[in-house]
Amino acid sequence: MPRTKVGVIGCGNISGAYLAMGQRFEAVEVVACADMLPERARAKAEEFGLPRACGVEELLATDEIEIVANLTIPHAHAEVALAALEAGKHTYAEKPFAVTRDEGRRVLELAEAKGLLVGCAPDTFLGAGGQTARKILDDGWIGEPIGCSAHMMSHGHESWHPDPEFYYKPGGGPMFDMGPYYLTALVNLLGPVKRLTGSATVTFPQRTITSQPKHGTVIEVEVPTHVNGLLQFANGAVGTIATTFDVWAAQLPDIEIYGTEGTLSVPNPNSFGGSPRVRRAQADGWTDFPQSHLYAEQNRGIGVADMAHALRSGRPHRASGALAFHVLDIMQSIHEAWEQGAWRDLDSTCERPALLPVGLRPGTLDD
Ligand SMILES: NC(=O)c1ccc[n+]([C@@H]2O[C@H](COP(=O)([O-])OP(=O)(O)OC[C@H]3O[C@@H](n4cnc5c(N)ncnc54)[C@H](O)[C@@H]3O)[C@@H](O)[C@H]2O)c1
Repeated sequence: MPRTKVGVIGCGNISGAYLAMGQRFEAVEVVACADMLPERARAKAEEFGLPRACGVEELLATDEIEIVANLTIPHAHAEVALAALEAGKHTYAEKPFAVTRDEGRRVLELAEAKGLLVGCAPDTFLGAGGQTARKILDDGWIGEPIGCSAHMMSHGHESWHPDPEFYYKPGGGPMFDMGPYYLTALVNLLGPVKRLTGSATVTFPQRTITSQPKHGTVIEVEVPTHVNGLLQFANGAVGTIATTFDVWAAQLPDIEIYGTEGTLSVPNPNSFGGSPRVRRAQADGWTDFPQSHLYAEQNRGIGVADMAHALRSGRPHRASGALAFHVLDIMQSIHEAWEQGAWRDLDSTCERPALLPVGLRPGTLDD
């Protein structure tokens, strides 16, 4: 299969995880990178041995590039995606898909009008831990799923991220930042959410950066930083999700799925590895399951490679725009439900992405 050529826009903190994707997956090759700060693009191109660093417009005008990987900050995701689509490129964004449902809808509509694919992180659910958990569920080890709980408990990113303001501005906050990992994992396991409500608060209206180089800078917090959702899934399961940047310590599981015949403990959805555990009714203890699937290491970009396979074969891609838009809709609706003190019915929905095949050759995603 010829390699699909990928251009990366946004050469910040996370870009390193993507720029090496061509070494991990046969379907893709990163041929150029761009950033609004040209020196960042130059430095990354040099570090990863890419053929070219260039400006955003030049990258979008490059004929050989078929997929644009959009690794800019959340506020720029929709704008860059729309520009990529206008330039005739398929596009894959870091999470969240967009900052608002309206922006996300515009991206989906333009993609459809142009006959182009849109994808979005997280793609961690395609790792060994997430795929094994999905197989355990689908194979019936815990019976029919009836509920779930998910927890992302932390004290925010200003202690380590070099440029953490965006986490406390619209499009940031714990639900928009980390919710995509947890909600994408839940939708991959249980299917779409149909109804929800939420609660939220801002515990610290100002945060002080303790990382370098902005040590001592005070951030005005503009979004809720402790956000909970109560979810009803279309399949009948009910669950909770808690996300926070306000908590110093907690002892809660990442994700648990409850079934009529047992409980499934799902590994951290922000990682590719981990061993799911199951405790069945009447069992004395938990059983660690061996991984049924590949890709237990850091494999960000697997969603881009999956999109490249989809482009060649015509099959659906897994980390899709429809899935990411549904997750965005859930996140925005949780905030709106909290503001309105109401339950919300969701208009969006999506299919559960197909399980990856078992027994793949490393570097590939299709049989
Ligand atoms: N840092 C992480 O550990 C991490 C992990 C997973 C996902 N993400 C996600 O990845 C995205 C990027 O995060 P980051 O930590 O790399 O941020 P960052 O601020 O370190 O990097 C973003 C880069 O995008 C560039 N940029 C911004 N707007 C642009 C535009 N319109 N055109 C061209 N370049 C533009 C910036 O100059 C910067 O170099 C975010 O959506 C974030 O949620 C980050």
